[in-house]
Amino acid sequence: MQTHTYDVVIVGAGGAGMRAALESSKRARTAVLTKLYPTRSHTGAAQGGMCAALANVEEDNWEWHTFDTVKGGDYLVDQDAAEVMCKEAIDAVLDLEKMGLPFNRTPEGKIDQRRFGGHTRNHGEAAVRRSCFAADRTGHMILQTLYQNCVKQDVEFFNEFYVLDLIMTGSGEHRRTAGVVAYELASGEIHIFRAKSVVLATGGVGKVFKTTSNAHTLTGDGMGIAFRSGIPLEDMEFFQFHPTGLAGLGILLSEAARGEGGILRNSEGERFMERYAPTIKDLAPRDIVARSMANEVREGRGCGPNKDYVLLDLTHLEPAHIDAKLPDITEFARTYLGVEPYTEPVPVYPTAHYAMGGVPTNIEAEVLRDNTHVVPGLYAAGEVACVSVHGSNRLGTNSLLDINVFGRRAGIAAAEFAATAPLLDLPDTPEVATVELLESMRSRQDGERVATVRKALQETMDRNAQVFRTEGSLKQALSDIEGLKARYRNVSVQDKGQRFNTDLLEAVELGFLLDLAEVIVLGALERKESRGGHFREDYAHRDDVNFMRHTMAYREEGADGSAVRLDYKPVVQTRYEPMERKY
Ligand code: FUM
Repeated sequence: MQTHTYDVVIVGAGGAGMRAALESSKRARTAVLTKLYPTRSHTGAAQGGMCAALANVEEDNWEWHTFDTVKGGDYLVDQDAAEVMCKEAIDAVLDLEKMGLPFNRTPEGKIDQRRFGGHTRNHGEAAVRRSCFAADRTGHMILQTLYQNCVKQDVEFFNEFYVLDLIMTGSGEHRRTAGVVAYELASGEIHIFRAKSVVLATGGVGKVFKTTSNAHTLTGDGMGIAFRSGIPLEDMEFFQFHPTGLAGLGILLSEAARGEGGILRNSEGERFMERYAPTIKDLAPRDIVARSMANEVREGRGCGPNKDYVLLDLTHLEPAHIDAKLPDITEFARTYLGVEPYTEPVPVYPTAHYAMGGVPTNIEAEVLRDNTHVVPGLYAAGEVACVSVHGSNRLGTNSLLDINVFGRRAGIAAAEFAATAPLLDLPDTPEVATVELLESMRSRQDGERVATVRKALQETMDRNAQVFRTEGSLKQALSDIEGLKARYRNVSVQDKGQRFNTDLLEAVELGFLLDLAEVIVLGALERKESRGGHFREDYAHRDDVNFMRHTMAYREEGADGSAVRLDYKPVVQTRYEPMERKY
């Protein structure tokens, strides 16, 4: 076992982690630990854009952007955090431009901007062009740009180092993070990283669902590790289903397709979004579009032999326009469905895309251990975190923005903390729990296959906790998850070796998925209302009297094992009174 000492350790090398690293490494000795090679991080799969009220092509301002974000999140957004994000958006885009990001340009040479769902002019009057983009590869370009700048700045990366535990010391208000325990994939060796501050930037948990736009690696590790270390999780019941996954596959087809003029149609050829969102139609926020699509299918207006999808129609757009603005996604349609988007509409259906909830933080990216107190030295940014800028439904392109604004803030705050904080003594043998976990799974003979349990989890989540939910469906999901947790205690891996044992890591990841699915479902069961991405058919309306509050889930250890306790946190409201959400 090796021990390393740094001022700041950043866990994750997607957009949030690398943006944090660019700040932190200028100020403090910083290591970035990542379970993937950095340029394989999931930020690279983000397509349509990063929004900021640059007003390069149409009148716009950050206050309209804040309003849209709050309304898009169905008023569960912490408004102070949304103000910070939307104000800092402009510099966040300009910083990337200065780093060399090849944004699309207007004829005058300014950064071009396109329309995206829920982004409007003057508080809902009409859709506005706010999303800065690089064709439909914006996340890919951000990831490459940040990585190149990290290399230029000599950021130290530990690639394919899988962080499995947070090292915590002290209790109550003195509880702090002293570092992390990591598993080196190439050798199977355990490493201890001592650090004064730790930034979690590990991304989301889309693999709890079967149909998802998320990569195989999006298993909620950072959320799971924090939760097992006694840190609560906030608003986990709010999961976003992106309207346009390739039907049957879930692969993302960017909302940019609709931003560039694409139209959703049902089996009757009807532009059905005109009924659900008469003002902005296909560019309504994702929760509304996803539900409308699912409703069309349920009411028998779905397309295809099983009537189980709708169509994204781009056939009225010029092929040259499609090639310039949407090259990747149209190629996906050709490759995976054999459909030619110039001439044929593309089959689409909602796909699990984004966790609005996560590890609670304040606007300095400090992790909260309850409603008000921080864990000194622990930070989180990006999808793993819940600073609550997205509330119950994130607007498209606010995610690439979130990682840049709060990644930067986390990097600065972590380095500033490390400048004055002492390096803590490590507890005795901080690696023991991790070694025991790995060895129990590696040594077990004849247990159940990881893939079998994971498939059953994903199937019940798709069936019972997707776009439409009821008490009955959620109770079914919960009972299935309990059964799967029992089966998980008996899983074994086929690869018993030390080197590149991804089989073993998938077993660990499954443990996180099961824990987090339970929190998602418990939160959804208790939230007896419909808000944003959480739609309860048995409580079809938003209930501000009883549920204008964040859910906080705590893991509590008892004699019979662990249990989840739910508590609540008030929503921060600054300038916008909740209103009925119409588009
Ligand atoms: O549709 C998209 O391009 C996805 C963007 C996002 O999730 O922000």
